Amino acid sequence: MPHWALLGFLLLLPLLTVAELGLQANRTFEIDYEGDRFLKDGKPFRYISGSIHYSRIPRFYWKDRLLKMRMAGLNAIQTYVPWNFHEPLPGLYQFSGDQDLEYFLQLAHEIGLLVILRPGPYICAEWDMGGLPAWLLEKKSIVLRSSDLDYLAAVEKWLGILLPKVQPYLYQNGGPIITVQVENEYGSYFSCDYNYLRFLLNLFRQHLGKDVVLFSTDGASEEYLKCGALQGIYATVDFGTGRNVTEAFLTQRMAEPKGPLINSEFYTGWLDHWGEAHQTISTEKVVEFLIDILSRGANVDMYMFIGGTNFGYWNGANTPYAPQPTSYDYDAPLSEAGDLTEKYFAVREVIGKFEKLPEGPIPPSTPKFAYGKVAMKQVNTVEETLDILCPAGPINSTYPLTFVEVKQYFGFVLYRTTLPKNCSEPVGLSSFNGVHDRAYVSVNGVPQGILERNKVFSINITGKAGDTLDVLVENMGRINYGDEINDFKGLLSNLTLGSVILKDWLIFPLDMEGALQHYLSSSAACSENPSSSTLPSFYVGHFSIPSGIPDLPQDTYIQFSSWTKGQVWINGFNLGRYWPARGPQVTLYVPRHILVTSAPNNITVLELEKSPCSFQEKCFVEMVDKPVLDGPLFSSKKKVVSSS
Ligand SMILES: *[C@@H]1O[C@H](CO)[C@@H](O)[C@H](O)[C@H]1NC(C)=O
Ligand SMILES: *[C@@H]1O[C@H](CO)[C@@H](O)[C@H](O)[C@H]1NC(C)=O
Ligand SMILES: *[C@@H]1O[C@H](CO)[C@@H](O)[C@H](O)[C@H]1NC(C)=O
Ligand SMILES: *[C@@H]1O[C@H](CO)[C@@H](O)[C@H](O)[C@H]1NC(C)=O
Ligand SMILES: *[C@@H]1O[C@H](CO)[C@@H](O)[C@H](O)[C@H]1NC(C)=O
Ligand SMILES: *[C@@H]1O[C@H](CO)[C@@H](O)[C@H](O)[C@H]1NC(C)=O
Ligand SMILES: *[C@@H]1O[C@H](CO)[C@@H](O)[C@H](O)[C@H]1NC(C)=O
Repeated sequence: MPHWALLGFLLLLPLLTVAELGLQANRTFEIDYEGDRFLKDGKPFRYISGSIHYSRIPRFYWKDRLLKMRMAGLNAIQTYVPWNFHEPLPGLYQFSGDQDLEYFLQLAHEIGLLVILRPGPYICAEWDMGGLPAWLLEKKSIVLRSSDLDYLAAVEKWLGILLPKVQPYLYQNGGPIITVQVENEYGSYFSCDYNYLRFLLNLFRQHLGKDVVLFSTDGASEEYLKCGALQGIYATVDFGTGRNVTEAFLTQRMAEPKGPLINSEFYTGWLDHWGEAHQTISTEKVVEFLIDILSRGANVDMYMFIGGTNFGYWNGANTPYAPQPTSYDYDAPLSEAGDLTEKYFAVREVIGKFEKLPEGPIPPSTPKFAYGKVAMKQVNTVEETLDILCPAGPINSTYPLTFVEVKQYFGFVLYRTTLPKNCSEPVGLSSFNGVHDRAYVSVNGVPQGILERNKVFSINITGKAGDTLDVLVENMGRINYGDEINDFKGLLSNLTLGSVILKDWLIFPLDMEGALQHYLSSSAACSENPSSSTLPSFYVGHFSIPSGIPDLPQDTYIQFSSWTKGQVWINGFNLGRYWPARGPQVTLYVPRHILVTSAPNNITVLELEKSPCSFQEKCFVEMVDKPVLDGPLFSSKKKVVSSS
């Protein structure tokens, strides 16, 4: 409550409608090639920006985070528009609630922040498939990010929806958007298709007009700029503290001999992967390089200024296949939860040496509350819940189909068949590395092991002819960078049992969110006889916000001691994946707006491997007040088994 009152106090401008924006005085934003700088309303201008992805922060907290960015002395923010966040199915557009891009732009404008918009269509961003919708893969042979006609048609349709929405928010039209990026690091992609870039350039001009400054961003090397830069699109570079600043800007000068120097992504931290050490960059390094960049009169965007969270299933992955965890904290100046860090104050001090800092208080970090342990109870296994998870029933197919082929884009699909022969001695079940990305295998309800992309290609199973073989396949996030972004999910190859190709599959696309709404959060669902704690299963627990303590509910972190790997929802909000058995992330951020005081809060957990719950033992999750993002690492214990 108190910090919200503070926000209202600082927001002096009333909300302007788009029409009112348009009536404001003459506004121009342009490149001054001779002066190697921007001109804003005819006057020299340099931006000091920070990246914030509205898709990684609940709308509830947009204002708080933007205000903290403004109070750090930033005069601009940079954000991506993830296409798949707004068009989950072809022709289904979502622009409200947490997807209300226009409201986000308006907030930035009110707070006095200009906007550098990066509408893609490809964005990378450690976001599922680099922001491209998975349904594009319905054309199996599609060449993404190229002049592939079906790709271009989808892009044209999407940008025909998106760009007219942002057009009124251009600086020239009275809004905050000063520059718009075309594509993203295109020079590091294999296709090097100038016709594709030209197509985008024409589309952007058609929808946004001739005045807006369009730009490209590429890694600061000649090789990247070769395919990433195009005449008519101002070329910028990105680099972090590992780079020689003089040399990095010299590469930009190869593409743009004149005009403003711009580092479009100056890395304040770095991204994580499951199973790899938590990444950080020291405040000293960030300060040293920021001073260097700003001293040259260059423009800079700090990537990230606040990273936020990969809620739900939104994380991407790198190659060789390595998915990113739920937290996108990034060791940025504002933490995942929007907290002020030492890095924040150090960066603010640097900015203060170059620009006048805004007057007024900095909104404080939001308080966190340790609600404590919450007892969890097993409800049902996934297998027992199939009629609710897949009300339309399974798809019958001789050979396995991919997620896209059954029109399921995220989450889980269960593949079921029967054993064609007796396996009283262990027999190898092999995937030829066709499991994307992880498969939980059971025979007649007895867990047999886990197949994992690039890690475990084969396991031994036992059972009798006619037994039910269930293979629950998890999509752990699509590759977001490089040549393998056509990242199909599910079973991409046949499974073989010994030398026999398994056939006649029943394929169950699982609707987790639908089931949650209808059934799983209610305790009525609890099964009389809890099943194995080693089969993929749902668990529920409830906790109430204590009364008599002021200002609750507050943010918290949920921790899964002795749990293994899974997905968690609170009151139906998908908080993301937990995997303390792999690390380094241990706790998940829980923003307070999803909590209620009027009723018990419901936690639903889908544990995929092994829970600490059993008949004898009570099991818990715990709500703590501190994040743990650099916990211990555990690599996959199983050795890679060659499939040949
Ligand atoms: C805005 O700028 C244009 C071009 O510089 C000029 O023609 C026009 O008169 C200006 N309008 C206002 C309201 O200042
Ligand atoms: C960066 O590169 C320039 C030009 O190659 C060189 O003169 C300078 O010493 C380098 N700076 C650092 C810190 O290595
Ligand atoms: C699946 O389809 C095959 C061939 O059409 C048929 O023989 C089989 O009975 C079907 N199985 C189920 C469970 O529908
Ligand atoms: C499997 O083993 C059972 C006995 O355990 C036997 O009755 C059955 O005929 C065997 N089936 C096959 C296909 O070998
Ligand atoms: C499967 O069993 C065979 C024979 O029992 C053994 O040689 C092989 O190592 C086992 N493979 C795995 C992946 O456990
Ligand atoms: C599975 O095997 C069948 C029969 O050999 C083959 O036609 C099919 O292409 C295979 N499917 C995949 C995905 O490899
Ligand atoms: C949680 O579930 C209980 C039923 O078990 C229900 O009464 C309550 O309203 C739910 N809470 C929320 C926030 O949905």
